[in-house]
Amino acid sequence: MKNFVNTDVEKIFIKGENQLKGNVLISGAKNAALPLMALSLIINKDFRLSNIPDLADTRLMGSLLADLGVTFEWKNDCINFDGGPKKDEASYDLVKHMRASILVLGPLLASKGSAKVPLPGGCAIGTRPIDLHVMVMETLGANVFYDSGFIIASLGPDGLKGGVINFPKISVGATESAIMTAVLAKGETKILNAAQEPEVVDLGKCLVSAGANITGLGTKTITINGVEKLNSVNHSVVPDRIEAGSFAIAASITKGNVEISNVRPIDLNLFLEVLRSTGSSVEIFENSFSVSSLKRPISHNIVTECHPGFPTDLQAQYMALMSIADGITIVKETIFENRFMHVPELIRMGAKIVTKSQEAAITGVKKLKGSKVMASDLRASMCLILGALAASGTSEIDGIFHLDRGYEKLVDKLSNLGANIRRSY
Ligand code: EPZ
Repeated sequence: MKNFVNTDVEKIFIKGENQLKGNVLISGAKNAALPLMALSLIINKDFRLSNIPDLADTRLMGSLLADLGVTFEWKNDCINFDGGPKKDEASYDLVKHMRASILVLGPLLASKGSAKVPLPGGCAIGTRPIDLHVMVMETLGANVFYDSGFIIASLGPDGLKGGVINFPKISVGATESAIMTAVLAKGETKILNAAQEPEVVDLGKCLVSAGANITGLGTKTITINGVEKLNSVNHSVVPDRIEAGSFAIAASITKGNVEISNVRPIDLNLFLEVLRSTGSSVEIFENSFSVSSLKRPISHNIVTECHPGFPTDLQAQYMALMSIADGITIVKETIFENRFMHVPELIRMGAKIVTKSQEAAITGVKKLKGSKVMASDLRASMCLILGALAASGTSEIDGIFHLDRGYEKLVDKLSNLGANIRRSY
């Protein structure tokens, strides 16, 4: 069992200006692993997941599933599940640490006929409502109400029945909830305005391998015809495109030359085009790509959008790169209402950034200065690391427990590329 470790007293120290060179192997995607692990609630026997990243968030999902009575063995990057849930109530002490815990609601309801899941908290980047997840459950036949901070869902005598889920806005998690619940509902379900993220497609592909009847994955309209039960399945988690994009920016911001392996470049098409527009050279191969840069980046505006647009999860990291670009860059964040928490910290490093509502204007400076900074959320932490890698002098980054949620062996991977980086109390 891999237990959740609280590392909120450690710091990362970086002496900047080393050019990163070499090859980095990307891990499995956190945002695919989490919903895939929740499938253990409905694929009860002989369900094997490989390429699982060892992260605080995947460990937390493991603890949450174990608490629900799911039995499994986790060795290295593989988890073998062999038993489904024994209870229908998820523990508040675990759910409160991770918003993605809401992903157990649908499969738990499908498996037990009822589910009691604490309302997950918001987080630094926004209130993170779950109304669309509840809409999914009600459309598929559940009765849902809230009581003392819990979402309580139960099925009537007809159980789960297919329906039309027409999302008023695109939601990755709610689309995943819909897929995981509808696969066992009687009849046909249509999901309209569905999310097209690669992690959603990976979840659907795993379910199809387990015998589910799903078409339209990766498009805005997904059609599901329910089946009685799901069969055993082996599935390898899709590589983490956000980790890969983060390392691509690390290569650009340090004027280095890095090959990023064990990835699917197609998942980062638009992002890699943007990186080229900033002056980096990008070479694409089958399961890898390389990024190199010899000069100061050139400013290039972005707007974050749902896939296949520019990923919101790379916005903070991109802002670090534009902080030292030649010119003024406008970054527009359209997915989350509060995803500029990294801005005041970048300003401490000498960046010149002005924000107004969902837009930031970054006037590139020649050099950032190593400073003491505080991470506020997962992707903001990576932004500060990237700034520190390029800055003159030494930076001290606090609050790095956020990093452990989404980046596996980050210090080792950066150090192997030549970064002067260490982690200590
Ligand atoms: C997933 O979060 C990812 N997390 C996020 O990654 C990612 O930023 C986000 O998708 C967008 O790509 C995981 O997959 C575990 P959403 P999710 O539902 O599903 C609103 C990271 O850094 N909304 O697509 O929670 C919501 O407030 C994390 O790895 C509702 O209004 O995101 C947001 O404004 C951060 N009601 C928008 O939709 C709902 O019921 C998109 O959110 C659900 C969402």
